[in-house]
Amino acid sequence: MRQVIIAGNWKMYKTAGEARRLVEDLKPLVGATQVEIVVCPPFTALAAAVNAASGTNISVGAQDLFWEDEGPYTGEVSGPMLKDLGCRFCIIGHSERRQYFGETDASVRKKVQAAFRSDLIPIVCVGETLAEREDGKTLEVCRRQVEEGLGGLTPEKIARLVVAYEPVWAIGTGKTATPQDAQEVIGFIRELLGKMYGKDPAQRCRIQYGGSVKPENIASFMEQPDIDGALVGGASLDPISFAAIVNTAA
Ligand code: G3H
Repeated sequence: MRQVIIAGNWKMYKTAGEARRLVEDLKPLVGATQVEIVVCPPFTALAAAVNAASGTNISVGAQDLFWEDEGPYTGEVSGPMLKDLGCRFCIIGHSERRQYFGETDASVRKKVQAAFRSDLIPIVCVGETLAEREDGKTLEVCRRQVEEGLGGLTPEKIARLVVAYEPVWAIGTGKTATPQDAQEVIGFIRELLGKMYGKDPAQRCRIQYGGSVKPENIASFMEQPDIDGALVGGASLDPISFAAIVNTAA
C-alpha cells in the first residue's frame, strides 16, 4: 500500500520567521496522522522550517534545485546544499518554473537525477495548459513530460519518487479537475510508468493531484484509486486549512 503524501508548496510566500511560526502552528494540528506531511518553503526559509519541524512527522522540501552539485552558477542552489540543510524532498518542474523560468523536460530530467544523487526525493510536476486540454492533448502532453522528464532512471528510483499531476488551468484559479478527470490522467501516468519501468515500481510510485485543493474537495480526490495525495498551494499557507487537508486525506 502506498502511504498518502500531502505536500504544501508555499511558493514565494513566508519569511524565515513566518515559516517557523507556520510550522509551530501546524505541529499540534497534525500530530497523530499516518499521512506523510511535507512543507516546501522558499530557500530562505528552509533552515527555519527544518528547525521548527525537527523531531516531528513534518518533512521539509525545497521548491527547485540546480542540476550541478557545485560550480560558478550565480544564484543557484544545489542538491548537496539542500540535503545539508535537512531537506528530504524537492519539487521539480512546477508549471510556474516551466512558464516563467524556462524549465524544460530536459532540465527536469537533469534535476531529477541531481536530486537522487543527493538523496532527495523528487516531487516531479506534470500537467497540461488550458489550450492543450481544449485541443485534446492532455494525455499527449503528460506522456511527453513523463517520458522525457523521468527517462533514464532505475525502477528503484521510480518507486521512491513522487509525481504531481497539476493541470495548469487549475492552479490558483479555484477551478479543479473533476476527481474522475484527475484519476483518468493519473491512471494513465501510472500505466505509462509501468510500461517504462515495470508494474511493481509503477504501483509503488506515489502520484498526487494538485490545483486548487482545499479541505472541502480533498476527500473526493482521495476516493480515486490512483490518487495518493495532493500538492497544495494556496491552502497550505494557512495551518488550519493545511491540517484539515492532511487529516481528511488520512
Ligand atoms: O504546487 C501547488 C500548485 O501549484 C497548486 O496551487 O493549490 O494554489 O492551486 P493551488
